[in-house]
Amino acid sequence: MIDVPENIPQRKRIILGPLARLLLKLFKWDITGTIPNLKKMILIGAPHSAMRAVGKAAQKFNTMFGVSALATVSVEEISSMIDTPKMFQFYFHKDRGLNDSCLERAKAAKFDVMALTVDTITGGNRERDLRTGFTSPPKLTLSSLFSFATKPMWGINYLTKGKFELPHLQDFVKEGTDTNTSIGNYFSTMLDQSMNWKDAEKLCSQWGGHFALKGVMSVEDAKRAVDIGCTGIMVSNHGGRQLDGSRSPFDQLAEIVDAVGDKIDVICEGGIHRGTHMLKALSLGAKACSGGRLYLYALAAAGQAGVERALGQYKSELERDMKLMGCTKISDLNRSNLRFRNILNSIRTMINCICC
Ligand SMILES: Cc1cc2nc3c(=O)[nH]c(=O)nc-3n(C[C@H](O)[C@H](O)[C@H](O)COP(=O)(O)O)c2cc1C
Repeated sequence: MIDVPENIPQRKRIILGPLARLLLKLFKWDITGTIPNLKKMILIGAPHSAMRAVGKAAQKFNTMFGVSALATVSVEEISSMIDTPKMFQFYFHKDRGLNDSCLERAKAAKFDVMALTVDTITGGNRERDLRTGFTSPPKLTLSSLFSFATKPMWGINYLTKGKFELPHLQDFVKEGTDTNTSIGNYFSTMLDQSMNWKDAEKLCSQWGGHFALKGVMSVEDAKRAVDIGCTGIMVSNHGGRQLDGSRSPFDQLAEIVDAVGDKIDVICEGGIHRGTHMLKALSLGAKACSGGRLYLYALAAAGQAGVERALGQYKSELERDMKLMGCTKISDLNRSNLRFRNILNSIRTMINCICC
């Protein structure tokens, strides 16, 4: 993440409203098949070996699970492990053999969705990675040695949980597995910077199933995605890790939903930390929400149990807050649930408070 404050959406200015419907519908409360299964949420699997734990937790909550081309666990293994919906995150490499192999393997492993990441045409300037010296495969530095020494379970896991590998890449490239590289450098050197709409269209038709562009942030691109045959788009700025100072996906959502929401599924991706964040995005017209760090810290702290605890909290927040809003099902959510705070009034109130 580069510029954290810039990636905080205007969500705080939006108030969720029960409006006049509070209690009226509670006697008919029926959320079966929607909220309890967290079907409206996608966990983006980060490329690390704890992916199995995340996959199992996703299965338990019936949530879609995303597996990256840079994942440390193969699509075949994930498929044999879980039978809930799965999405493959495709990075368009210069090496066309690698691209074809990823596509065929994800297809053969019966993945349900292909998402082509389109916001990594070059690496973002990930200052924290530069500072810590983070690379793939991980490299021992003085500070990482200190981290391992103070958290012995990390070292034990690293030594006992199998060799670090990137199963979708290793037959094609050495970078990331045999040769240390930063993620930013990997994007800039291994991905095809000349990727264009024709390439995306071709991939979409080769895949022949649900196909999304991940990283769309403008109405123009969203419309173009419809034209090339996409069935979805993920409104995303890669968690603020690519373009420094970019607008947050949540703030971009409404105009994109207005332009293409009746034609394809629009997913709000990133910056989701609470159940109410999902409720606001779904009310604005997103079909689902997705994210990476929404489970990552819980994973780091407590493995699969941690992810399950985080998902359990999202689920109970959604249930509780929908009840408090008087909504009985996800399809009840719409813009009439939302009120936009007038920022000038808020400032005036603040000044009045200070002066009085
Ligand atoms: C550790 C980590 C690894 C990621 N790896 C990938 C990846 O391989 N492919 C991809 O398209 N996005 C990747 N992302 C970006 C996420 O898919 C997603 O866009 C971002 O995390 C959303 O923001 P959030 O973390 O605020 O939820 C990664 C993010 C993180 C934090």
